[in-house]
Amino acid sequence: ALDDLIAPSILSANFAKLGEEVDNVLAAGADIVHFDVMDNHYVPNLTIGPLVCEALRKHGVTAPIDVHLMVKPVDRIVGDFAAAGATYITFHPEASEHVDRTLQLIQSEGCKAGLVFNPATKLDALEYVMERIDMILLMSVNPGFGGQSFIPSALTKLRQARELIKASGREIRLEIDGGVKADNIGEIKAAGADTFVSGSGIFGKGSDSDPNRYNSIIAKMR
Ligand code: DX5
Ligand code: ZN
Repeated sequence: ALDDLIAPSILSANFAKLGEEVDNVLAAGADIVHFDVMDNHYVPNLTIGPLVCEALRKHGVTAPIDVHLMVKPVDRIVGDFAAAGATYITFHPEASEHVDRTLQLIQSEGCKAGLVFNPATKLDALEYVMERIDMILLMSVNPGFGGQSFIPSALTKLRQARELIKASGREIRLEIDGGVKADNIGEIKAAGADTFVSGSGIFGKGSDSDPNRYNSIIAKMR
């Protein structure tokens, strides 16, 4: 099995001092940076793009950056994120006209590719593309906002996705996103996840960076 990874979602960080926030969560033990890209079209919110990803790299962030695209269309932003230093690029199959092509595009740009499934979306889109998948991301909230509650049916889906990964014989990350906190991560891990996005669970609601708090929360999540 792959190592567990804690992936703070910077959506809940203080954007006025983003570089410092990212440095602090990484110093507190986080493994990868979850980077939420929203376009006010595929999802009802507007966030950050390749410029900000590039700025984090220039700031000196060397940890993997996990770009979660909630945009439509997908393909024309992929190259810019690859050039900006993305490590993983995941997208929602509903947002791409040609899912296999988009997966190939991401990998041809040198990034790891993954599909994201909304709470009500079946895992069917995986069936013919498993050999191209590096990561499966299951949403445990409806995409668009931080601070929502974990939807319990995601646990059943995690178990299903874990079976699919086993059957594939491939090393595929199984990531969960939405409502993950120190107090529910145990059951989420038991259901098969190995990569844990947490926004408000790590940064809190006030987004006032407190490196000491990040330390103790991330330690609790291990
Ligand atoms: C929601 C985003 C999440 C969000 C999670 O659309 O994909 O990554 O930041 O935030 P929390 O952990 O607060 O639910
Ligand atoms: Zn996300």
